[in-house]
Amino acid sequence: MSVLSGKKILLGISGGIAAYKTAHLVRLFIKAGAHVRVVMTPASKDFITPLTLSTLSKNPVYSSFYNEDEQTVDNAMWNNHVELGLWADLMLIAPATANTLSKMANGNCDNFLIACYLSAKCPVYFAPAMDLDMYKHPSTLASFHSLQQFGNIIIPAESGELASGLSGEGRMAEPENILAFIEQDLSSRLPLKGKKILVTAGPTFEAIDPVRFIGNHSSGKMGFDIAICAADLGAQVVLVSGPTQFETNHAHIQLIKVISAQEMYQACHEFYSSVDVAICAAAVADYRPKTIARQKIKKNASEFHIELEKTPDILASLGKIKQHQFLIGFALETENEIENAQLKIQKKNLDLIVLNSLRDPGSGFGVATNQVTFIDKQNNIEPKPLQSKELVALDIINKIIAHYHA
Ligand code: C5P
Repeated sequence: MSVLSGKKILLGISGGIAAYKTAHLVRLFIKAGAHVRVVMTPASKDFITPLTLSTLSKNPVYSSFYNEDEQTVDNAMWNNHVELGLWADLMLIAPATANTLSKMANGNCDNFLIACYLSAKCPVYFAPAMDLDMYKHPSTLASFHSLQQFGNIIIPAESGELASGLSGEGRMAEPENILAFIEQDLSSRLPLKGKKILVTAGPTFEAIDPVRFIGNHSSGKMGFDIAICAADLGAQVVLVSGPTQFETNHAHIQLIKVISAQEMYQACHEFYSSVDVAICAAAVADYRPKTIARQKIKKNASEFHIELEKTPDILASLGKIKQHQFLIGFALETENEIENAQLKIQKKNLDLIVLNSLRDPGSGFGVATNQVTFIDKQNNIEPKPLQSKELVALDIINKIIAHYHA
């Protein structure tokens, strides 16, 4: 999945021949799962029509401070550049002509695109496009310098044949290269970039005989949501999951499917030394049959007993050999919740525990929401509201980000 998926992109088009390539660029952004809105300088409309861009972006295109569709200026609707600037997760000016770059660098706000640019708080990328001598002119270089000082990011022009017939540096980067540049740049800025995270999810099934097992109602949703959220924010994730209905083909998640607690234990220990964080969200069976019958057990006797033994406590075993890892466990308690969770932090050598109580309606197995309380090893207690498991996952991941960026 592209890092641009779900991102809101404000594309500013200025008046250069490369503007014709923005139709393809918008298509690429949409294909990557982004939401696109387009603003144009008046001059750019000579090179590509707003209709093309509104059709491809599925949004109205803006090029002036008021709605030009209205019959008279008296009835005109004001186009809100501040709202557009703030809407964007990122702004891209492509093509960025020498004129527009100079206006951006000097705050010369005489068109709607520049007003949006000055209102945008998000990262701004610009892809210059001009003839080779213009590209090298000290005035243009001064604009590049100022914009980079402001924190804007240049997507360098490419070399090749230019509209003037000359050949050299100044062609706007090809749309595919612009997309790849932005994806790469955004990925490198993700807060969990370079971090490896182990997540356990789902129930475990403990075999009684070839057809029966001891299991529980865990759906695995919480663990999968945590894994996806961590991967979306740049982490490399190893997700060790018991039997669930969920699948993932996220490029940054390695899914390891296990059945029993013993298999989950082995998979976790295989990866633990190489990870920075481990989050144990699985509902591991606490007991398993001491022996597994080789054949299906017949129903002869009126009573039947299974002798059980304890499964390995995976989380506690990870706590025991913890070195640099940030270790997070879950606790599902029905009484003395806080005290029991605090004891668990010590007993299992955790950094953070996520407590959910079955007493809270909307929490626990098989529901899409969860109401949790965070307790850390310094005994800070932070109750959270009832929210979707996706948002609970984000809260957990934010705890990890805060740990590394404190
Ligand atoms: O001790 P308790 O089962 O309440 O602890 C729950 C936490 O321990 C959860 O994070 C769960 O994933 C983990 N756990 C484990 N292995 C077990 C039992 C629980 O990793 N055998």
